[in-house]
Amino acid sequence: MVALPSQSGADLTVAAGGRQDVRSLGPNPNHWYVVARSAEVTDQPLGATFWGEAIVLYRDTEGHIQALEDRCPHRQVKLSEGEVTDGELECIYHGWRFDAAGQCSHVPYLADHQKLPSCQLKTYPVQDLNGFVWLFPGDRDQLERENIQPMGLPEWEHINYIASFTVIDVESHYSFLIENLMDMYHGRLHDDLQAWANPVLDTLEATDQRVDVLYNAQSYYRIDKIWSVSQLFIPALRQLHPEELRVSYVYPHWVSTLGQDFKICCLFCPISPTHTRAYLIHFTSLKRFHRLHKLPMAFRRFVKNRLFNAAQGLLAGLVKQDVLMLEQEQVAYLKNPDYKGPELNRALINVQKLIRQQAQQD
Ligand code: FES
Ligand SMILES: [Fe+2]
Repeated sequence: MVALPSQSGADLTVAAGGRQDVRSLGPNPNHWYVVARSAEVTDQPLGATFWGEAIVLYRDTEGHIQALEDRCPHRQVKLSEGEVTDGELECIYHGWRFDAAGQCSHVPYLADHQKLPSCQLKTYPVQDLNGFVWLFPGDRDQLERENIQPMGLPEWEHINYIASFTVIDVESHYSFLIENLMDMYHGRLHDDLQAWANPVLDTLEATDQRVDVLYNAQSYYRIDKIWSVSQLFIPALRQLHPEELRVSYVYPHWVSTLGQDFKICCLFCPISPTHTRAYLIHFTSLKRFHRLHKLPMAFRRFVKNRLFNAAQGLLAGLVKQDVLMLEQEQVAYLKNPDYKGPELNRALINVQKLIRQQAQQD
């Protein structure tokens, strides 16, 4: 293996055959990545990282989210250690201030004969959309030319969906996480925590933008039957029925549905070649509760808000089990990067192909 520098500063490891090793490939930055929840960004700075780039987020005086390089041009300390003053970032060290365009706007000890230092911090396009902060770290010209839109998550605000979420913070390359999410044959790991069983890969479609896989599975979840709630807590009562399990790698994010009633998404933010952060969001649809739809909107909103995050403990339990596996995969990979284990799931072969195609588009 040889290591080559990439545009994003990370090493691209090239296997002996000349093919880039998927376990160290950088993400294509010309997509929208999720760097925070909307509620996390306030009028105080918040640090985030996308593939080695330190970013600072804050809300300006009008409540709009701004995203800039998290590096004071004076001494290169983190601006996220400072504060926001009059809607501008103020460095904690000497108090220099920077406006949303990334230019120095104030130095507290500037003498009469001195000019403000000319410096330009990198700024990022950012969108406050469906409860999350979507950031575009790539080429602005391409963004405008191709009108690239964030995937979005309309169910987050939709009155008929109850959301729960948890954070995945895993010391592994993002390819291990997306493969885990696309591989429905790892149900053994989750045992009683999981709502489906006996998956069989049925169809697979792949392009250079996404991979869509349908598994025929079985589930005991059935939202319109009250008895099914008891099955959630008492595994002995569970009765399985056939259910379609669809999983999609909508690069760089993941979307899945179980039947008509459940949707789970995973919004990615690769931090480094060995660290990935993501939000796992579970939605339960209330569409089948027809009587609920006739009730006043204020009551329906109350139900949605009251049940928000009800499944967080369940999600966190699943994530803990997966993270244990992913981190072991990463450690084993670093010890022996040339090892290629046998793979029987063709979904994963297509996932790796898509990662390579996207990396080449960078
Ligand atoms: S290091 Fe930021 S103002 Fe000096
Ligand atoms: Fe899992």
